[in-house]
Amino acid sequence: MEEEILKAQKERASIIKSYSSKPLKESNITLLAKTRNLQYVTIKEIKEETPDTKSFILAPDASKGTYELAPFKAGQYISIKMFVNDIYVTRAYSLSSNPLNPKFYRITIKRVKNGLVSNIMLDEMEENSGLTISLPAGNFGYEPLRDEKNIIAIAGGSGITPFMSLAYEIENSRPQTKLTVFYSVKTLEDIIFKEEIAHFNKKSKRVKFIITLTREEQEGYLNGHINKKMLEPYIAEFNTFLMCGPKALYQTMNEILSEFNIPKKSVHYENYFAEYKPNTNNEYELKVILKNDFVITKCSSTEPLLIALEKAGIKAPSLCRVGTCGFCKSVLLEGKIKMVGSSMPTSLAENDYIHPCVAYPESDIVLRLDI
Ligand code: FES
Repeated sequence: MEEEILKAQKERASIIKSYSSKPLKESNITLLAKTRNLQYVTIKEIKEETPDTKSFILAPDASKGTYELAPFKAGQYISIKMFVNDIYVTRAYSLSSNPLNPKFYRITIKRVKNGLVSNIMLDEMEENSGLTISLPAGNFGYEPLRDEKNIIAIAGGSGITPFMSLAYEIENSRPQTKLTVFYSVKTLEDIIFKEEIAHFNKKSKRVKFIITLTREEQEGYLNGHINKKMLEPYIAEFNTFLMCGPKALYQTMNEILSEFNIPKKSVHYENYFAEYKPNTNNEYELKVILKNDFVITKCSSTEPLLIALEKAGIKAPSLCRVGTCGFCKSVLLEGKIKMVGSSMPTSLAENDYIHPCVAYPESDIVLRLDI
């Protein structure tokens, strides 16, 4: 009996040894986990919306393993990931398509002066070009349990994109809800989604777009910046306000909404990149400690640390680039930074976590990244 036990023990030991010496095979689950945040898409169609804005219809690229697109909620964005001159960069764009049609995504991109990714998208991308994008992310949009049935959306310029998606959601799946979108643009030529807006205004009983032109007068359009008089007829007893546009628009609107006694909890904002112009233009040393490596590079007081990481060829994680998603979270081991517009939870901030996407260096920096 003892002999048998000894024999079995030996066999067991040899089986364990043979297994542990073999490298584990990558299962489909492992491969899936590796790419869990990415989707591969092809540009199916490009539409010129205005002289400086184009819409891109994105379909899944089955040849690269994306058989269907992840579902999204009106108001969410995706992040485009690409290499530009060997530098890995990411940019976030709101989805402007119908969330109830999961077969494709639409993103709408406006030219930005010195914009890296936006200009590549507008000038170099063609139909059938491939793109790598993130899963949809973000918390902006209509929340049935939180929000009222009368929604007033305020859009400035390309800030109309999430509201086009919301218009489809409200029209097709929220019969009790009413959406009025105030859309402010400079001229008639700058109106994005002109035909779709006209279609909603003609057909829908619950979704309405009101366009105001700030730099010219045209028949059928309001004139001037969105003001109290324009809003008044649309305000009900209980309202939810959603805003997407430049910071100046938010400031003006907040003043107007306080005159209507709209509680702050009823107003929700799409996060914008909080522009920050430091008084100095200094260059500092940036040491980056990675899991198995470290990099020494430069950073500038005029740019967020994420830009310096990308310029150094580090594939730093990022999604929103405005300090809200937490994806770029890193540890500041040494140095002084100015964080602009970040929503870092206090518990993390107290433990020296920062968001490099909105952190401007004010001294030499040592940063730890978990990659
Ligand atoms: S990329 Fe979202 S918080 Fe920095």
